[in-house]
Amino acid sequence: MTESPTVAFPQNRTCPYHPPTAYDPLRDTRPLARVTLYDGRPVWLVTGHGLARTLLADPRLSSDRTRSGFPAPTARFAAVRGRKSALLGVDDPEHRVQRRMMVPSFTLRRAAELRPQIQRIVDERLDAMIAQGAPAELVSAFALPVPSMVICALLGVPYADHDFFEGQSRRLLRGPTAADTLDARDRLEAYFAELIERKQKQAEPGEGVLDELVHQQLRDGDLDHEELIALATILLVAGHETTANMISLGTYTLLQHPDRLAELRADPGLLPTAVEELMRMLSIADGLLRVAAEDIEVDGETIREGDGVVFSTSVINRDEAVYADPDTLDWHRPARHHIAFGFGIHQCLGQNLARAEMETALHALFERLPTLRLAVPAEGIPFKPGDTIQGMLELPVTW
Ligand code: HEM
Repeated sequence: MTESPTVAFPQNRTCPYHPPTAYDPLRDTRPLARVTLYDGRPVWLVTGHGLARTLLADPRLSSDRTRSGFPAPTARFAAVRGRKSALLGVDDPEHRVQRRMMVPSFTLRRAAELRPQIQRIVDERLDAMIAQGAPAELVSAFALPVPSMVICALLGVPYADHDFFEGQSRRLLRGPTAADTLDARDRLEAYFAELIERKQKQAEPGEGVLDELVHQQLRDGDLDHEELIALATILLVAGHETTANMISLGTYTLLQHPDRLAELRADPGLLPTAVEELMRMLSIADGLLRVAAEDIEVDGETIREGDGVVFSTSVINRDEAVYADPDTLDWHRPARHHIAFGFGIHQCLGQNLARAEMETALHALFERLPTLRLAVPAEGIPFKPGDTIQGMLELPVTW
């Protein structure tokens, strides 16, 4: 392949809703480039939309983190790679069994049934924030508690424990050291071990997804204890951190695009397509990870068995061959086939739920607070570093 300059991956964004400018050379070497990870290891970086969909659907690319050669984008990730994981970290046929168990709780219909409850949670958070008065810090007052409360209700996890699990998720996803990440994972697993034990002792199952799993799958032997703990951990962490980031960064992006916001306000029917376009534009989970389980011939190159393959969703979702004027926010483009929720067998299990939450939260926020604006200059607002899920660290707002 034509040698592209070596680019380190991942890197910090310069603007929270655009890919790092350091990735610009990668946009010229679609659909495949070489990049270097934090430990100096070279891996393939998929940058083209068509190739991404082909490869994410290719069973020769493995998601098994324990497999030799699996790429680690950070020391933090390397530290927990050997741990038992569920769904995202396993291949078929094991993955199929776990996914089948979970799908009924995450269908479009189930998400639609949850909408009134999501609306209630959103309204309560906004009532509380408005009662406190302006200014407010939107991440802690709204963007994080909404998905956190929703996933707790869905799983059957007591929201009263939210300080604990939000804190541990934060350490897991962006703790300062690898030791921190390991310790956070241990604590979350110990928490779920205890919660599951409590649920096992209940004569009548509670209403959450974990209650169903404990009383059916665990009892019938379809799941073992360790698998259930791994499942609960991924559902809880993936279920609140990601959506919280989309709500905070989505709000920031809308406030930075007043014309688009006005258009959306004038026609709330645009909301579902606007959420897809925000998903495409923000691509908050940037860097999906796989390892080649066999040699794969692709685009005139051979990805060798054991090679690491990383998918930059932010670069892929701005492929000019698919999206005209890709750096512009446009509610009228068909953005739905973005890969911000992934693609293939690991495509986001919670996407229907996430869409329902984002639509409800953004709609209510701007309807209740029509004068919502940033409380400080945009340049001073801290956002997350490039080596974790993208979003705002804080979002001071006023109205
Ligand atoms: C806007 C918010 C969200 C974004 C951007 C997002 C993004 C993603 C992406 C990109 C993947 C695929 C990763 C890969 O292939 O390597 C994924 C998988 C997954 N997501 Fe989400 N997600 C979001 C919300 C949620 C929610 C609310 C849940 C609820 C439980 C969830 C649960 C999962 C699970 C369990 C997987 C693994 C699925 C599997 O391996 O079969 N996500 N998500």
